[in-house]
Amino acid sequence: MTDYREPGRRFGDDFVFGSATASYQVEGAVAEDGRLPSIWDTFSHTPGRTMNGETGDVACDQYHRWESDLDLIASYGLDAYRFSIAWPRVIPTGTGAVNQAGLDHYSRLVDGLLERGIKPIATLYHWDLPQPLEDAGGWPERATAEAFATYAGVVGAALGDRVDTWITLNAPLCAAYLGYAIGIHAPGRTDPVAALRAVHHLNLGHGLAVQALRSVVSPAAKMSVTNNLSTVRPGSDDPADLHAAEKARAIANGVFTGPQLRGEYPELAIQVTAKHTDWSFVADGDLATIHQPIDVFGLNWYTPVWVRQGEAPDPASPWQPTVSPGNEDLITESRDGLRTDMDWLVDPSGLEELLIDLDREFPGLPILVTENGCAYDDPLVDGRVHDTRRIDFLQRHVTAVHRAMDAGVNVTGYLVWSLMDNFEWAEGYSQRFGITHVDYETQVRTPRDSALWYARLARTHQIPEVDDIA
Ligand code: FCB
Repeated sequence: MTDYREPGRRFGDDFVFGSATASYQVEGAVAEDGRLPSIWDTFSHTPGRTMNGETGDVACDQYHRWESDLDLIASYGLDAYRFSIAWPRVIPTGTGAVNQAGLDHYSRLVDGLLERGIKPIATLYHWDLPQPLEDAGGWPERATAEAFATYAGVVGAALGDRVDTWITLNAPLCAAYLGYAIGIHAPGRTDPVAALRAVHHLNLGHGLAVQALRSVVSPAAKMSVTNNLSTVRPGSDDPADLHAAEKARAIANGVFTGPQLRGEYPELAIQVTAKHTDWSFVADGDLATIHQPIDVFGLNWYTPVWVRQGEAPDPASPWQPTVSPGNEDLITESRDGLRTDMDWLVDPSGLEELLIDLDREFPGLPILVTENGCAYDDPLVDGRVHDTRRIDFLQRHVTAVHRAMDAGVNVTGYLVWSLMDNFEWAEGYSQRFGITHVDYETQVRTPRDSALWYARLARTHQIPEVDDIA
């Protein structure tokens, strides 16, 4: 068995190495220049929802420090920066009046990237839904998808001449299931039907947004959508567990890739969710709208899961209920092995496997790894952070990507999550994902050793040795 430590592998010159962040996780300045609350402001300010009651009120203060943050990215020699645009800065109440100050901020950011030779990759929805839209029903409602398309058109008209790649949605699985089914993310609802309706209206929002963008942006701009697909492995060879894995894939992956890339929901997904809904909210023509041609498929990937048919024995067991509506009769497990601070198993074979499976299902699909990374809190001592475990993680995961490319998968780039430590949603500031350390008291940024290592990878396009951080 390979351990995925394969320095020396070389990526093509046009392969893109970059880093990613998201608006609510880094910007702060939540009440400035016309921005109004999103569901994450409301959620994080609700007692008991986030670790220690932490919020994105200040975060990394990137709204004010964007210039020096762009200098930092440039100092790492990265090809691209994936950031997200806060809907409540651009259309603060979700529908209606456009806030020019919000657009101007992102216009400066995009110009700043281009001046430094960095490709702007803009995500339109990284979970900060304007609160008034949630008050009117949120993603379970069709009107939210329509409002999203209007917002996409507004942003596209303002920035469409300069953005390299447009990502409509980030990880709709989390928005739908964590937000509406199990309630650990904003808006914190626990209603399986609402979650499935949210799945469809997020998909519809993607399709409508691509249409809206295409009509206003440069023809050279690339269209994309980011999904966090799961590598699902059966818990045993028992046929019931093999089928459990199929059901889990249908609900975790198929309900997104099916309509987005093929124009249909998987039959199995309709079957397993029949106890909740007949999907009559899918209107005629919706699937064709969702199935827009895209130029590159965005993939966020962190860790694989194992799935079984059955009930969780007890809260202490490694087997736990799945988060997916319809699959309440399945349990998931993560296996023994190296873990990150998120308690996620480090298993780069899962990334290689998923890339190969995705290519098998959608041959030739260009794929951009829009997020991959790990949380480790190594100490900052005398201006250095020796985060060897993160370097090891990155080396092994870029190796997994390279191996998938050797197997014929068309991967166009890799964006590390994250450029810097930031507000990790329900986990608050407890989880440090950055290649850059952030001191939240002073807002001082310190490149970790992994940033130096990653900078070398980006410069040479060849996987460095783990200690090659000069
Ligand atoms: C992804 C999110 C991103 C970050 C990472 C750890 O699912 O898109 O914002 O929180 O997980």
